[in-house]
Amino acid sequence: MRAAGEPKLSSGSDNSWQTLSLVLPFFKQYRWQLFIGFLSLLAVNGLQLVIPRIIKHAIDGLQQAGASSEVLMQYGFMIVGLALFIAIFRFGWRFMILGFSRHLEKDLRNWLFSHLLTLDRVFFQRRTTGEIMALATNDLAAVQLAGGMGLVAFADALVLSVAALSFMAYIHPGLTLIAIVPMPVLALLTRFLSRRLHRYFKKVQEQFSRLTQFVRTSINSIRMIKAYTMEKNQTKRFDVMGREYVQDNLRLAKVQGTLFPVSGFIANTSMLLVLLFGGRLTIQGSITIGDFVAFTSYLFMLTWPMMALGWVTNLFQRGVTSLQRIKNVLDEQPVIISPSEPVQVPEKLNSIVVRNLTFTYPDQNDAILQDISLEINWGILGIVGRTGSGKTTLSHLLARLYPVENDTLFWNIIDVNKLDLAEVRRRIALVPQDVTVFSDTVRDNISMGKPDANREEIETVARAAAIHDEILALPEGYDTRIGERGVKLSGGQRQRIALARALLSDRQVLIIDDGLSAVDMETEHQIIGAMQPFVRDRICIIVSHRLAPLAQADRLIVMDRGKIASQGDHEQLLRKSRFYATIYEYQTNRLGKV
Ligand SMILES: Nc1ncnc2c1ncn2[C@@H]1O[C@H](COP(=O)(O)OP(=O)(O)O)[C@@H](O)[C@H]1O
Ligand SMILES: [Mg+2]
Repeated sequence: MRAAGEPKLSSGSDNSWQTLSLVLPFFKQYRWQLFIGFLSLLAVNGLQLVIPRIIKHAIDGLQQAGASSEVLMQYGFMIVGLALFIAIFRFGWRFMILGFSRHLEKDLRNWLFSHLLTLDRVFFQRRTTGEIMALATNDLAAVQLAGGMGLVAFADALVLSVAALSFMAYIHPGLTLIAIVPMPVLALLTRFLSRRLHRYFKKVQEQFSRLTQFVRTSINSIRMIKAYTMEKNQTKRFDVMGREYVQDNLRLAKVQGTLFPVSGFIANTSMLLVLLFGGRLTIQGSITIGDFVAFTSYLFMLTWPMMALGWVTNLFQRGVTSLQRIKNVLDEQPVIISPSEPVQVPEKLNSIVVRNLTFTYPDQNDAILQDISLEINWGILGIVGRTGSGKTTLSHLLARLYPVENDTLFWNIIDVNKLDLAEVRRRIALVPQDVTVFSDTVRDNISMGKPDANREEIETVARAAAIHDEILALPEGYDTRIGERGVKLSGGQRQRIALARALLSDRQVLIIDDGLSAVDMETEHQIIGAMQPFVRDRICIIVSHRLAPLAQADRLIVMDRGKIASQGDHEQLLRKSRFYATIYEYQTNRLGKV
């Protein structure tokens, strides 16, 4: 178990192994597929290595007396036959191993997605959507590449180089030693360059995530951009970011671009050495011409694995970095967790009690709520207060979206931290200010929390939310599709649909956090009145910036700078709270004048 606040390990080799252990189960799961794949790969390599031997025999045979074209034909057919098998096995390994890497990618993606859904707001506050999207695209792709082509190239390079070296040594050990002199230089250079590659690659990835995030926020706030005619400005900023992305990519390309030619150059130095020394050996008659040709063929075969090594190291490094990033998210635990032995949630919830609750957002210093004490009973509790006074924060804590200290929040008389979290959340319906309506029919949107609700139930809650008539006026009534390519609803209509959804879901706690802000005052008044029968034996908390509709609430609290400034019913507050009285008068008078 990871203790809270334990420092993250810096990237060392231990860490890489830890990271790799993440994908180990997948290797086990797909072991047969991998086995067949690598066997095919081995077969391809084996067959490829035989071809230079055949060429050697053909060439050596040419020099001997009695060489006939039939014998040559035979060799020719042998090579063609081998090539056919090579083709078949090549298909085999590609299909198996690249198939494996696709499965690996899919499984990791599913894991990541389902894990993301378990995390709470605390996590999503820290990570931008762009970061998460980059993880699900770039990073997964890098892992897939490493687990597919990377693995293949590595196995291929290993087998080919060992085999080629053995054959070369068999022909002439001394010449082999001379031929591989430049190889360590190649390895060192690769290492040096691949480190750089690694660093630039990371930069590219980060910049890409910034770009995605920028597009996302721009599209989300398109109206604001238009209203402030910020199109040019945004485009300019996007252009700057795009340029940086190109710069980063170009730097990456420069290093990548040097890696291959330089490797090729070094590999060719080997060839030069072989031509010099091997040629002399052939002339001296120490090796046959056939041996000499076969030797250069093997050396040629060795070139690719040596170059591949650089590429593969880089691929693996990218893969591990990406996997590390994915692992970091998979290691995240929801901040609010259920106790291992939860107390049964009370069948009937009579009261929610807040006792000396002080709250600071994660990773922040200043307490946003200070010493809140409050008892909430059946009926409606109204919360009012200036913007930033902590109303949303309090309603989110009551909705169990952020963690609370022990002994600060009670259901009946039980500390909520002792209750099963999922069960608690099943008892709560939250209507936030910016509600989500799915591109689905109105009916399905309302009945989300209770899919088996019948028509009458749906219409009852729609009436209570004062949206029934407007739904009937839509082209297809309750069957009208909302959203993409469907009917667009106004903010107030969406809020009322969300309210109807909450009412239908029949929870014991209903929290409306400014969820009627886009509804006009008359309608809000009407809605709160119509909700009374629904909340008679339930707890309903309504945050609103308009006081008149809330006057019907059973109880009201006025929040000010994270504290409860005063509480009571409407009449009491008119006398007690200057803030309440002033705002109430201001709002009602202004309404009177309009
Ligand atoms: N997720 C958050 N992280 C950090 N601070 C926050 C967060 N949400 C709100 N705050 C801060 O908490 C204070 C109260 O905000 P909020 O509860 O939204 O007030 P209200 O709903 O009354 O307008 C504000 O100062 C705001 O800046
Ligand atoms: Mg708010």
